[in-house]
Amino acid sequence: MRVLSGIQPSGSLHLGNYFGMMSRMIEYQNQNDLFCFIANYHALTTLPESKDLSRNTFNAACDFLALGLDPERSTFWLQSDVPQVTELTWILSSLVNRGLLDRATSYKDKITQGLNPNIGLYSYPILMAADILLFNSQIVPVGKDQKQHLEMTREIANKFNRKYGNIFVLPKEDIGKNNQLVPGIDGRKMSKSYNNTIPIFEKNTIIRKKVMKIITDTADINDTKNTNTTLFQLYSLFLDENAQKELELRYKGKGLRYGDIKQEFFEKIMDYFEPFRKKRQALVDKPSNVIDALKIGSEKATKVAEEVLVNVRIATGISEK
Ligand code: ADP
Ligand code: TRP
Repeated sequence: MRVLSGIQPSGSLHLGNYFGMMSRMIEYQNQNDLFCFIANYHALTTLPESKDLSRNTFNAACDFLALGLDPERSTFWLQSDVPQVTELTWILSSLVNRGLLDRATSYKDKITQGLNPNIGLYSYPILMAADILLFNSQIVPVGKDQKQHLEMTREIANKFNRKYGNIFVLPKEDIGKNNQLVPGIDGRKMSKSYNNTIPIFEKNTIIRKKVMKIITDTADINDTKNTNTTLFQLYSLFLDENAQKELELRYKGKGLRYGDIKQEFFEKIMDYFEPFRKKRQALVDKPSNVIDALKIGSEKATKVAEEVLVNVRIATGISEK
């Protein structure tokens, strides 16, 4: 199966990204043909400073490689290194009616947050459809917030196939059952834009501070505690079924202090990510390894993209047979 996903290089990686998408995606490489890229064209739609975009792009590449993405087994590249995707975006744009983009909830959310309503942001779903369709992707692991973008991708692919013949594979999203939406420290969806994240690769002191700020209720030490709460949900991400049951029993019993649970949770995070942090530091210390991995990936990705695009150009009459 061809599995594809991308992530925007827009800041420090957090637990929501990891459990919502990255860990599941990396797992796919064991038995599938994994395509994974860093969506820097998408990141441009929010108009970051250029030095921030390039630094975040390098950091995102280090994150993926440190977390286990194997550039030899999988195809790993930087979106802008395969610019064929912009050509396909243009071709698809002519098929997409405004009505489809007007429905996009993520565009509306971003405007509400005060982002500039530029055309790039508005047509973001078409670029994303091109990312997916250009590589014959069958499965796309993403967090729940990306579901609508996958529905739009299928709608665009169907419209194209109906008009020009069966060129595109119809992709399916894979939204993890357990970790559909990881809550942030304030109880809303964990997201960089809410400033409520628990980052993975920041300094210990920063991570600890965030953990200590997780909202809890005012239950007294001898009250039983509610497990349907943010701290419990976050801690559970790291626990197997038995360990989760144990934690549940502690919540139901007496004498539990939220401060103690937070400290345990913090230690769990640090232990879990320790090997990844070491690997990441080695990559940061030798950037040429990261750059080489991306170069090899872009060559592999370009080959696949060109094969699909040749068919698209012929089907649409942009070029002759
Ligand atoms: P952010 O909201 O912090 O800007 P992104 O939009 O860059 O995160 O998301 C990157 C990937 O991580 C996407 O596939 C998204 O669905 C997933 N993701 C982000 N936050 C969460 C979350 N809180 N729970 C589950 N998945 C998430
Ligand atoms: N829109 C996705 C996000 O914000 C990132 C992305 C861009 C993507 N192109 C993609 C994800 C293609 C999966 C497939 O998280």
